[in-house]
Amino acid sequence: MSRRALILVAMAGCVHGAAALAAEPATATPAAQAAPAAQATPAQAAPPAQPAASDPASAEAAGAAVFAANCVVCHGAKGQGQPSLAPPLTSYPARYAGIPEGRRQLAMTMLGGMFGGIDVEGHHFDFKMPEFAQLDDAALASVLNFVVFALAQAPAQVPRLTAEEVKAERASPLTGAQVREHRAKVLGLLGL
Ligand code: HEC
Repeated sequence: MSRRALILVAMAGCVHGAAALAAEPATATPAAQAAPAAQATPAQAAPPAQPAASDPASAEAAGAAVFAANCVVCHGAKGQGQPSLAPPLTSYPARYAGIPEGRRQLAMTMLGGMFGGIDVEGHHFDFKMPEFAQLDDAALASVLNFVVFALAQAPAQVPRLTAEEVKAERASPLTGAQVREHRAKVLGLLGL
């Protein structure tokens, strides 16, 4: 399959995944019910984030459902990635979450996607990640927490990402290329 065909397959999977999340809440785990509820009512995005933040188990389940519907197609069920197509999410996101610019980077990646060559743990990737700005702040915070804590296993003392942090980045959207530029700055700060 050509690289272009792979992109189209991946993108189609992504769109399908997003549609499934909205229309078929019963598809995945019991957690699937939590995420669509949070998404269906953007006006209430902030209040549902509060119980989720104070209940780590349900917050993680919501994030797992968003990940299954939108991210697994490229990054794999355990965030292991795919050689030269999509990077693993099993270590760097935990490092990002430990510093303010890194936390901004995670939110930016969700909102603007990422475009251009990057290196992760010595492996090169040069592909395009779509943006997920269509998901609300609470859903994006929950999927980031799933990546940071469940997949990349950040230490428990790292604060959870909040819907407010995602909202703050939404105010000044970046392109995928700009998100990649900011990433270089974050890697420098982390000494990676
Ligand atoms: C169409 C495939 C695809 C989908 C779907 C996708 N990603 Fe990505 N993701 C990528 C690619 C490719 C990159 C690297 C982009 C580059 O090479 O510039 C990336 C990069 C990332 C990064 C940055 C990693 C780093 O080290 O800086 C994070 C975090 C991430 N993705 C999380 C997610 C999450 C969470 C979802 C679901 C909401 C998702 N991705 C959906 C392909 C995808």
